Amino acid sequence: MPPRLKNPCSEKEVSSMFDEISSQYDFLNTLLSANQDKRWRRHLITSLPAVKEGVFVDVATGTGDVLIACQKAAKGYTSYTGIDISPLMLKEARKKLEKETLQAELIQMSAENFTFEDQSIDCLTISFGLRNVNDRDKALSHFYRSLKKGGELFILEFFLPRKKFLSTFFMFYFRYILPHIGGLFANKKAYHYLPKSLESFYSSKEISEKLTSLGMVEIKRKSFIFGSCELIGFKKNN
Ligand SMILES: C[S@@+](CC[C@H](N)C(=O)[O-])C[C@H]1O[C@@H](n2cnc3c(N)ncnc32)[C@H](O)[C@@H]1O
Repeated sequence: MPPRLKNPCSEKEVSSMFDEISSQYDFLNTLLSANQDKRWRRHLITSLPAVKEGVFVDVATGTGDVLIACQKAAKGYTSYTGIDISPLMLKEARKKLEKETLQAELIQMSAENFTFEDQSIDCLTISFGLRNVNDRDKALSHFYRSLKKGGELFILEFFLPRKKFLSTFFMFYFRYILPHIGGLFANKKAYHYLPKSLESFYSSKEISEKLTSLGMVEIKRKSFIFGSCELIGFKKNN
């Protein structure tokens, strides 16, 4: 296993950064990903298991897009919860849920201090969130602990592409282009943070090794734009 990697920013710093950009977050996501973020989340939603009843939890829910899309897809879950550390991102999620007349519980909670009971969750998602968590190993252990046997975990995240020339190209975009575009509409600091969080992050293979060693089985892997974004899914077998 590689050494434990931690996000260079503290939870407090990350939470303030997302608070600051909360009202522009959806717009900037669409702009900076050239509208691809919606396509990636759609793949996530179609990969989620359909159930007769069950508990669905979206970690680092942000403005609630995954939570909303999962309910709209009528996957059969009986309870929907979104957690996040940023109160203002949760406020945006609340507004969107109200507008859509959908019900979900929104809780200010960190993935590292995840208070869900052991074996209580049927499906857990985290989209563009794990990289932002300070102690990723701790969060992954909590996800494993709180999933029921047979429960599934889906992670959608940015990664550095494996091919060197592609990772150099993406780091150039993230370091020198994205903060300038993002900075036109929101605090530049939040977008300088993205490449830093990427450099300190696991590869998707390392995440898979970590979860497999805990007792999960990889059931899904899909790569987008040359491996700079990946969707990985796991099932808890024991
Ligand atoms: C890039 S946004 C992703 C939001 C949403 N999941 C999406 O797909 O658009 C990252 C979110 O992770 C949240 N976050 C960061 N660290 C967290 C932690 N330790 N626990 C829970 N949420 C966290 C941030 O507040 C932010 O809302």
